[in-house]
Amino acid sequence: MKNDIKIDYKKHWNEIYSKNDIKKLGWYEESAKPSLDLIQKCNLNKDAIILDVGSGATTLILELVNNCYKNIIATDISEAALTIAQNNLRDEEKELVKWIVDDITDPEYIKEIGAIDLWHDRTVLHFLTEEKQKEGYFSTLKHLVKIGGFVIIAVFALGGAQKCSGLDIVNYNHKMVSNFLGDNFKLLHYFPYLYIQPSGGERPYVYTLFQRII
Ligand SMILES: C[S@@+](CC[C@H](N)C(=O)[O-])C[C@H]1O[C@@H](n2cnc3c(N)ncnc32)[C@H](O)[C@@H]1O
Repeated sequence: MKNDIKIDYKKHWNEIYSKNDIKKLGWYEESAKPSLDLIQKCNLNKDAIILDVGSGATTLILELVNNCYKNIIATDISEAALTIAQNNLRDEEKELVKWIVDDITDPEYIKEIGAIDLWHDRTVLHFLTEEKQKEGYFSTLKHLVKIGGFVIIAVFALGGAQKCSGLDIVNYNHKMVSNFLGDNFKLLHYFPYLYIQPSGGERPYVYTLFQRII
């Protein structure tokens, strides 16, 4: 039976980031190009508020800074991850980003950040196997994304791997993500993407882009 043992997710992720070389992690990307391509489609102003959920130690943050975005928020359940992410940036770049340690399924601080222009999640939603976690995630998203704002969610595709980082995951297609978002969010674009891990393993993802219309 899945998830009959309570997992301490914060501890799990802190250990993953403390004990491993980030460049060898099974989701590391040298450039977050598929995300950046979708972000470009949103035509955001450079002062748009961009929230990267479960940011980890992603290279996306530096790439957003390099693209002159001024209101970036990186959030993750793991402080170890965000410390590594900060260390990837120069001091003056670090200060351009807000760093918030929080659980996106039951946030303490994230709910207070105000309306956002873009919610970006690469491979976090699929770790939420319990109904309560998914409800918390989508209620936070719907609370934060403004009308006209965008949502990018990239997750393991149907038929792809069923575990990541030793945890069970839920596989998705674009319609499943759309169903969770509901009628207030219009699907603008989606594409399959074959991510190749540093070890050479193939991980089929689906990338989705939505806009909040109501
Ligand atoms: C597979 S990694 C992806 C990291 C990053 N998005 C990337 O593309 O490199 C998943 C990330 O989600 C974070 N995470 C998992 N559960 C979370 C939760 N409930 N709230 C916030 N972050 C979470 C983990 O700490 C980890 O950094």
